[in-house]
Amino acid sequence: MIEAATTVRQLHIALITETPERTRPLASILSQTCDVHLLPPAIDPLVIDDFASCVVLDVDLSSTQVIRALRPTRQAILARSLPSLLVIDKSIGELALAESIRRARTFGVRNYIHHPFDADEVLRIFAPMHDARAKSEASSRNKIVLRGVFAAHRALAQTIEAPHNESSFPFETLEANTPLILEALDVWGIGPWMETVRRHHGGTYRHSLLVTGFAVAFAQKLKMRPKDQQRIAHAALLHDVGKSFIPIDILDKPGKLTDHEMEQIRQHPRYGYDLLTQHGGFPAEILDCVLHHHELLDGSGYPDRLRTGQIADLVRVITIADIFSALVEDRPYRQSLPPMNAFRIMQDMGNKLDGDLLNAFRPVVEDAA
Ligand SMILES: [Fe+2]
Ligand SMILES: [Fe+2]
Repeated sequence: MIEAATTVRQLHIALITETPERTRPLASILSQTCDVHLLPPAIDPLVIDDFASCVVLDVDLSSTQVIRALRPTRQAILARSLPSLLVIDKSIGELALAESIRRARTFGVRNYIHHPFDADEVLRIFAPMHDARAKSEASSRNKIVLRGVFAAHRALAQTIEAPHNESSFPFETLEANTPLILEALDVWGIGPWMETVRRHHGGTYRHSLLVTGFAVAFAQKLKMRPKDQQRIAHAALLHDVGKSFIPIDILDKPGKLTDHEMEQIRQHPRYGYDLLTQHGGFPAEILDCVLHHHELLDGSGYPDRLRTGQIADLVRVITIADIFSALVEDRPYRQSLPPMNAFRIMQDMGNKLDGDLLNAFRPVVEDAA
């Protein structure tokens, strides 16, 4: 994973100085809330390009020598429109200070820090930058996660609606949507995915999208290749597609199901399998997941009462994500369970589930908690 689910990236400050001893107290104030890098005036501008989110100049800009040394840095600042600040030291004299400020403007400097440094003033100056950073992080996170969730939703809706529109659903359409799903989970993790799905989608859609989130997050924790992450995303997204043939009042029934209703629900793997087979072009392993995600290793599952050696690894992954998701979701007949409680229930299922795989799933549970 590139970034923790809800972490806002820190401000990285390039603190450019000719007098490190004088600048160090400023560095220590800023390091309470930022990542600070003390640098000399003559640096490779790539250093600025690579990491800086803000530049502070603690240099005498009235010196042409300093200006010359800073030329590449100035271009890097202007090219990236980086916020930049100047340290003002009245002890250099009024004229030099006025010249320094004039030249600082050519760096885009609009803000000043006074020397000797005052912690309150420094932190106050930087507060809006932290806010702006947090906002832009949050909005880019929301965009990526929403894009991923809607890609998944679109693919699922097209699969379900196709028979009603008397059209078929090409597997390629599903494949085209998968990179957005993987990106959303890889960059932001399972937390924002869960939040978005819970806010926007109901019933089987919500369940299928959550299972997709848990299954892909699991694959990413296991460091599976992107190709395998895709297979898992496809299988998870479609595993319950057969539920679209079950009456909603049975799916959403708040009370106990009758034997007949239960029997109808138990048909959904077969319905899903038949639907995708009719569409054609779906890989056998996906059909296997759709048909067998309710099989259990001890032979007590349905529809084919398969046992350990007959249940593929991919199916086992989907089964774990499916059961976990069902337990942490609100259902008409019960409230959602906290992730760790759900995990403990699954541990108590003993030899029905693949124990090694379940242990490997724990980090996803911890991220979801
Ligand atoms: Fe199911
Ligand atoms: Fe399911």
